[in-house]
Amino acid sequence: MTAKTDLPENLKIAEGGSHLDQVKMKELTSDRFPHVRMRRLRGSDALRDLVRENHVRKEDLIYPIFVEENADEPQDISSLPGVRRETEKSLSTTVKEAAAAGVKSIILFGVSHHKDHTGSDSFDPNGLLARMIDISKQAAPDIAVIADVCFCEYTDHGHCGVINDHGDVDNDRTLENLGMQAVVAAEAGADIIAPSSMMDGQVMGIRHALDVTGFSHIPVMAYAAKFASVYYGPFRDAAGCSLGHMDHVRKDRKTYQMDPANGREALREAALDEAEGADILMVKPGLPYLDVIASIRQHSKLPLAAYQVSGEFAMMKFAAQAGALNYDEALMESLIAFKRAGTDMILTYGSLDACRILSENG
Ligand code: PBG
Ligand code: ZN
Repeated sequence: MTAKTDLPENLKIAEGGSHLDQVKMKELTSDRFPHVRMRRLRGSDALRDLVRENHVRKEDLIYPIFVEENADEPQDISSLPGVRRETEKSLSTTVKEAAAAGVKSIILFGVSHHKDHTGSDSFDPNGLLARMIDISKQAAPDIAVIADVCFCEYTDHGHCGVINDHGDVDNDRTLENLGMQAVVAAEAGADIIAPSSMMDGQVMGIRHALDVTGFSHIPVMAYAAKFASVYYGPFRDAAGCSLGHMDHVRKDRKTYQMDPANGREALREAALDEAEGADILMVKPGLPYLDVIASIRQHSKLPLAAYQVSGEFAMMKFAAQAGALNYDEALMESLIAFKRAGTDMILTYGSLDACRILSENG
């Protein structure tokens, strides 16, 4: 603070000066410069590194991979730039490449050509789900293979379970099939079972099915708060599981996926899944739901995952293609946002790119 007497001669103001003089004097002698300067710790890379609160590590990332049955060549997905549908042949190479890049966990999605009313191929021990898990484990035994357990990729109507007489998903019949699918996935070598159908009791049902079949050691990563989101659009192109092509069947998933307006309800979903025995909780989509992530983080001690879904990823890609932003930087900023909100692990189509970027930055 500058004392009045320390002022240079030309700034000294006579006692009893004009009103304006008094105001000026007050300003000059007051504490008008900050004591606390936030910029002090932003002055160099080294200082910024010292005070950084969150970090993205390669081992936090979970890489989603699509696998198309009976396909000759890997296919690009036009609504999801940088992501392709693997064939069962190319899957092995892709998993090895991911492992070499530093990816430690993958999640698999099937593109089925054996669809039926219940999605029975997903619980056939020789079906696509079982095969792609097996191929991945053989390619890279140390990688954690997460089995997304749901039916939408395997049903002819595209819903996440068995359809009842009213054209809606029958919760409890779907639970039975989820249990079978989880066991088939575990038998095929899955390291984590991730139920994504949003059926009530799905964690309990799967936990029970695993426990009675000798898989009590296999963890469940629950899609706890999965919202009925428009951001799944490119995924539905990629996995071929859009709705609306069948009469007398609901054309949306709003009776099981959550209303995007509801934050408190997400806490109830998370608490239920925890009580049912979930080992990891997941929020999906990611960036538009950071508030949900942060509040679940406050209420649960479980490890927490976020899914940066296809639409979120595509937005960054298309914005970069249009020259609106730098993809690498946008990706890393989005990943650190997840960590800041309290996420332990992130499912992202950008996993390989993030590994590359993390390696480049030493
Ligand atoms: C299947 C499933 C979906 C996604 C992951 N698992 C699609 C859906 O619920 O419609 C979306 C992932 C993404 O958009 O990247 N239940
Ligand atoms: Zn589904």
